[in-house]
Amino acid sequence: MSKDDLRMWRGRFQAPTDERVQAFNASVDIDREFALEDVEGSVAHTRMLAEQGILERDEAVKIIAGLEAIRDEITAGRFEWREDLEDVHMNVEYALGKRIGPLGGKLHTARSRNDQVATDFRLWLRKRIVETMDSLTLAREALVDLAERHLGVIMPGYTHLQIAQPVLLSHHLMAYVEMLGRDRERFSDSLPRVNVSPLGAGALAGTGFAIDRERSAELLGFDRPAANSLDAVSDRDFAIEYLANASILAMHLSRFHEELILWSSPAFGFISLPDSHTTGSSIMPQKKNPDVSELIRGKTGRIYGALMGLLTVMKGLPLAYNKDMQEDKGGVIDTARTIANILDLTATMIPLIEPHPERMAAAAAAAYGNATDLADYLVSKGLPFREAHHIVGRLVAIAIDQGRRLEELDLTDMRTVSERIDEGALEVLQLERVVNSRTSYGGTARAQVEAQLARVRATLAEERG
Ligand code: ARG
Repeated sequence: MSKDDLRMWRGRFQAPTDERVQAFNASVDIDREFALEDVEGSVAHTRMLAEQGILERDEAVKIIAGLEAIRDEITAGRFEWREDLEDVHMNVEYALGKRIGPLGGKLHTARSRNDQVATDFRLWLRKRIVETMDSLTLAREALVDLAERHLGVIMPGYTHLQIAQPVLLSHHLMAYVEMLGRDRERFSDSLPRVNVSPLGAGALAGTGFAIDRERSAELLGFDRPAANSLDAVSDRDFAIEYLANASILAMHLSRFHEELILWSSPAFGFISLPDSHTTGSSIMPQKKNPDVSELIRGKTGRIYGALMGLLTVMKGLPLAYNKDMQEDKGGVIDTARTIANILDLTATMIPLIEPHPERMAAAAAAAYGNATDLADYLVSKGLPFREAHHIVGRLVAIAIDQGRRLEELDLTDMRTVSERIDEGALEVLQLERVVNSRTSYGGTARAQVEAQLARVRATLAEERG
């Protein structure tokens, strides 16, 4: 064994670790993200040990004072991280020994890095989840504000990206509010599964010391201790679930930004994006590129990648802990940062979106988006829907031929196709009429959209508590 090898497990080794192995094995570059949680977990563990009489009271006081000093060093950015100490856990433990001497070695009584790392990870992740939930409230508030500000603006609704039926812009925006609301729910639903304490599971089998796992769980704000020590140290389903929820959220954000990209392109011209969230081209002076939206769409790839990565790391691992699992953190940390970033950018961009109602209305009116309404009108006059569909189809063909809208056709021309058509038909073709006729629950009629807005406002107020 080499004299300057500081690692806690070196006792049984005679030859030093290969330098390449040391670098390969180390995870401190990544898991130092959990530094504060590591200290927090150690403080709780120490308190519990003292309460159980496993440590003397004054020993615990000294250990905790040492840990708190270390925490302050970390927060101030003054902590010296060493790769040769492998991971965050041994870095903190070594620093404690340097501060308080051999007593520091008592901290690791009745504990293993296996239960320690799982504890740190869960403490850290539950904070990220709560932050994500708060950001989802903010993003939805921004969408609801925008929807309310532009209530009454009519745009084409699409299927197959072909103009289908006119809808309110607010209705379209509120669809994303629903999606993001479910995303928040998913994160919220996952919390009780994350908020479980592995601490005291030891390396895998528990410990013979008379520890109190309920107590350390309680001190750390966990709902309960994990029921099976093998499971506690060896599953990462809580992290996978987080990545799955993040993937669904990213997918929703990607779709939203895809629409912003389409709508802001000159071909659509439905909205202008703010200068603050777009960029120029280094060669084409006229360009205003939706880079932020494109990047958010693109970031979805790395989040799905993190999910696939961790699922793949975990598949086929025998119980309990395996070193493979050290690969569990990078993707989750990266995902949490990415999610925070893209939600913040989305929420700050939304209020600056400037709709162009005339362009939207023109597009909605130009492509026979009111054809269904004429058919429905004929149905109200007693025709079977299939027959009405056929008649209107013929009228659309005539209109296309004449380069006119349906409502611009000559009534006598229309009546040659079906005598059931009268002035009333021309009225139901008006865009606003069309939109406001969709009065079914959740439909696009203004009154329905207003009801949606009111329901969501109440939910948002509750979330703000
Ligand atoms: N750095 C390790 C990890 O992230 C901590 C647990 C190490 N345990 C062990 N038995 N080598 O997974």
